[in-house]
Amino acid sequence: MAHNPESVFTYGAPRLKFGSGAADEIGYDLSLTGAKRVLIVTDAGVAASGSPQRVAERMKEFGIEAVIYHQVHIEPTDASLEEAVAYGRDLGPWDAFVAVGGGSSIDTAKAINLLTTNPGTLLDYVNVPVGQGKAPTQPLMPLVAVPTTTTGTGSESTTVCVLDVLDLKVKAGISHALLRPTLAVVDPSLMVSQPAGVTACAGMDILCHALESYTARPYTTYERKAADQRVPYCGSNPIADMWAEKALSLMATSFRRAVRDGGDVQARESMALAATFAGMGFGNAGVHIPHANAYPIAGRVKDFRPKDYPNDEPMNPARHVRGFDRAGSLSLHVRCGP
Ligand SMILES: NC(=O)c1ccc[n+]([C@@H]2O[C@H](COP(=O)([O-])OP(=O)(O)OC[C@H]3O[C@@H](n4cnc5c(N)ncnc54)[C@H](O)[C@@H]3O)[C@@H](O)[C@H]2O)c1
Repeated sequence: MAHNPESVFTYGAPRLKFGSGAADEIGYDLSLTGAKRVLIVTDAGVAASGSPQRVAERMKEFGIEAVIYHQVHIEPTDASLEEAVAYGRDLGPWDAFVAVGGGSSIDTAKAINLLTTNPGTLLDYVNVPVGQGKAPTQPLMPLVAVPTTTTGTGSESTTVCVLDVLDLKVKAGISHALLRPTLAVVDPSLMVSQPAGVTACAGMDILCHALESYTARPYTTYERKAADQRVPYCGSNPIADMWAEKALSLMATSFRRAVRDGGDVQARESMALAATFAGMGFGNAGVHIPHANAYPIAGRVKDFRPKDYPNDEPMNPARHVRGFDRAGSLSLHVRCGP
């Protein structure tokens, strides 16, 4: 029990546009910033769905030229990000960036945005001890994040870019408030082409986020903080609880349907809404044991290859992290179930 229990919690969320057709309005949204030349960042799998091309076409109506970079590496590495940044620097300057894809594309767009607006190398900005942990000195360009997986990672609203540093065999991140996308556009119609395996994995991410934030240590059990000590993740609280509960009830009726029938638009919409709600919850309450356990357990897994992800990948810690993350959420679900 806290000596001087906390009595304050905080709530923050990114600018958001939600709903089928929302991605068609990106040209309008970017025209308000005066953008004329934009880089769309995506991966080959998402590019095959035609969504990035559709976003580019619609931007033309607002006099915006869009170039598509579709070489994003699934689970970005320092090498893949450096390649993407070199592309961005060679073909720039850009007035804005649009990431169309899952966390891999959104994180790659964050790195390109950072390093086409600021000097130096990737490792200058990667968190210590892996990198120098430098902060950007120049403002970044607008970044619109359009998740096409069921927003499991939440990268469309976070200030983080996650990467594998190959030589060191470690996972690291770049973390700065300026990395947060300017606008998140969650358009369920872009998720219809998401393969069943990806729908299942991203869905388990959502479930884990909602359950962990709902069962997180309540904010009132912490010692009271001073104004300058406040942190984004402040423990479970009535507002985060409300989003987590709503996310769970939406998933109860849509998760299985979305995996079984990817064309079930209503189920896709409910899952996208559930992911957004869960993000509003865990983005403020935080997560706990399953996430904390994930890294050490995941490092011991050598050959896990999830269904419907690119098969040419070597062992990938991030994916394992999520696999165990999901296993954790399931056991928690059993304990907390009705
Ligand atoms: N920045 C953050 O806050 C944060 C948080 C957690 C995880 N991450 C990172 O996010 C990455 C994982 O992202 P993810 O799980 O969203 O998936 P992803 O971007 O890695 O994509 C997974 C696969 O799904 C395919 N795909 C996605 N949407 C599709 C669609 N609509 N149609 C057809 N195929 C589609 C992709 O082509 C790819 O093969 C990892 O690198 C992880 O480290 C970032």
